Amino acid sequence: MSETILKAEHLKKVFPSGRKALLAVDDVSFALKRGQCLGIVGESGSGKSTIARMITHLTDMTEGRVWLMGRDITRARGKELRKVYQDIQMVFQMPVESFDPRQTLGDGIGEGLRNIGYSRRETGERAKELLVRCGLPPEYASRYPHQVSVGQCQRAAIARALAVTPSVLICDEATSALDVTVQKQILELLRELKEQEGLSFLFICHDLALVQAFCDEVLVLCQGRVMEQGTPDEIIHHPKKDYTKSLVEAVL
Ligand SMILES: Nc1ncnc2c1ncn2[C@@H]1O[C@H](COP(=O)(O)OP(=O)(O)OP(=O)(O)O)[C@@H](O)[C@H]1O
Ligand SMILES: [Mg+2]
Repeated sequence: MSETILKAEHLKKVFPSGRKALLAVDDVSFALKRGQCLGIVGESGSGKSTIARMITHLTDMTEGRVWLMGRDITRARGKELRKVYQDIQMVFQMPVESFDPRQTLGDGIGEGLRNIGYSRRETGERAKELLVRCGLPPEYASRYPHQVSVGQCQRAAIARALAVTPSVLICDEATSALDVTVQKQILELLRELKEQEGLSFLFICHDLALVQAFCDEVLVLCQGRVMEQGTPDEIIHHPKKDYTKSLVEAVL
């Protein structure tokens, strides 16, 4: 049995919404093991991004607890939170917007390293190595985000996430803005990282075919709650709930 890297228990998020409160995430628990990929699927608005944002502290959680390698990070702040970001990184849907337009890709990739005390020279070297690792020429370090294609920019965003050698990558619709061929290439890169570097993934994706190709386990979310959980094969070929059936049918 491999080690649990990330554990979430009873996550809950209530957003104020006019006079009524909106329960966006309701009692969601899961465990992610080293080298595993846990998919999160569910219709638009089912709470997928909110879960990712609570784990990474981009959104406060209403209730729940999160452990990273046995450490309770639920209330991590300041220095402790910066340490969390050395272990958990996120890759988002819109790679170009995720970079500062005035910064070269190399500087963007190196930022996390500069923050933990790497010299400018070391950072530059490492950024080039990471670009190559992610399938881009090292010279792209001096390009700006708008000077590369969206797929290339997503590779650079993955390089940036890898810079601090995290254990967990949270991909929130990381391939959704890419065309099908580029999607496949990015998924191939993520698979390599999973197999060669033992990275663990929370893979948020509305495309069940991609989830099937990449995930070991899937959580199906419906209105903030876990509807069912299983292997991609179970979820896609033997769904227990009508909601899951309709999700599967929607993409066929
Ligand atoms: N900052 C916010 N303030 C108020 N409500 C929010 C906020 N962020 C999200 N919500 C609401 O919480 C619910 C869950 O949103 P969330 O973004 O997590 O869904 P999602 O599953 O990621 O959807 P999508 O597939 O469209 O990305 C939605 O009803 C959304 O409107
Ligand atoms: Mg979302």
